[in-house]
Amino acid sequence: MNASFLRFSDMDPGEIEPLVRRAVAIKSGDHGAPLAGKSAILMFEKPSLRTKLSFWVGVEKLGGRPVYFGAEEVGLGKREPVADVAKVVSRMSQLAIIRTFGQDLLDEFSAAASIPVVNALSDFEHPCQALADVLTIFEVKGRLEGVRVAFIGDGNNVARSLAYAVAGSGGHLTVASPAGYELDQETLVGASNYDTELSGTVSQVRSPEEAVANADIVYTDVWASMGQESEASVREGAFAGYQVNPELMSRAGSDAKFMHDLPAHPGQEISEGMLEHPSSIAFQQAENRLWAQAALVEALLK
Ligand code: NVA
Repeated sequence: MNASFLRFSDMDPGEIEPLVRRAVAIKSGDHGAPLAGKSAILMFEKPSLRTKLSFWVGVEKLGGRPVYFGAEEVGLGKREPVADVAKVVSRMSQLAIIRTFGQDLLDEFSAAASIPVVNALSDFEHPCQALADVLTIFEVKGRLEGVRVAFIGDGNNVARSLAYAVAGSGGHLTVASPAGYELDQETLVGASNYDTELSGTVSQVRSPEEAVANADIVYTDVWASMGQESEASVREGAFAGYQVNPELMSRAGSDAKFMHDLPAHPGQEISEGMLEHPSSIAFQQAENRLWAQAALVEALLK
């Protein structure tokens, strides 16, 4: 694995399943204190529930001390150059966990830092989410290779990381999006060619019904991501017909499970009650952020 985890592909595909298995072991109580006497800085420029809580609790579980800075405190690249912040942080803490807008800020920070840097969501990727997602799929389906995942909605940060996670572990991801909101070509090609040993695939279609046919997992995310609030009403129009609801689930494979990275908007990307639908594993998925990231942090600090 690279020294940092800024995009999902910073991990070798062959490392995914071992890391998932390690997360399962950590979840069952098998963990040491690799962060004993160490501090992890969390710098978040966007709101967060799951990511902040799971990293905070996870760092403590591994024996470390989390130090949190909210949006207005550091002023990354505004109050102080990104590289200067990275150099200061590297002298006083052993891990940097950053949630921000541009992926370039993470790259710049990581280039100047001498400690591992973790992408806790950017506009471009959400790799920690994807790691928790494959852990959840592994728990529920007992395998990753050959699993068919349908992602309904925006070809966004979550979809991008998921493409690498699913295809990299030998699964098949089909993304269904309206025109103009597809997964970018670079990700489609990059994720499909990421692993050279397994035959995972990523494909893009228009129709949600086509995407979910025979799917083991049906996954969706918000239509307007953080930072896209002003586009919300335009997007609501564009994504009409892309709602995950019991009717769409009934077209998926038998025993298909429903996933959502949360927060969810019932009435938009999901119907009312979908999080409590018998197929939903969204809260198990949310909890798994903690365990997947604990395994990640342990690996980064080795
Ligand atoms: N795509 C969403 C994910 C939230 C966890 C966003 O970026 O807002």
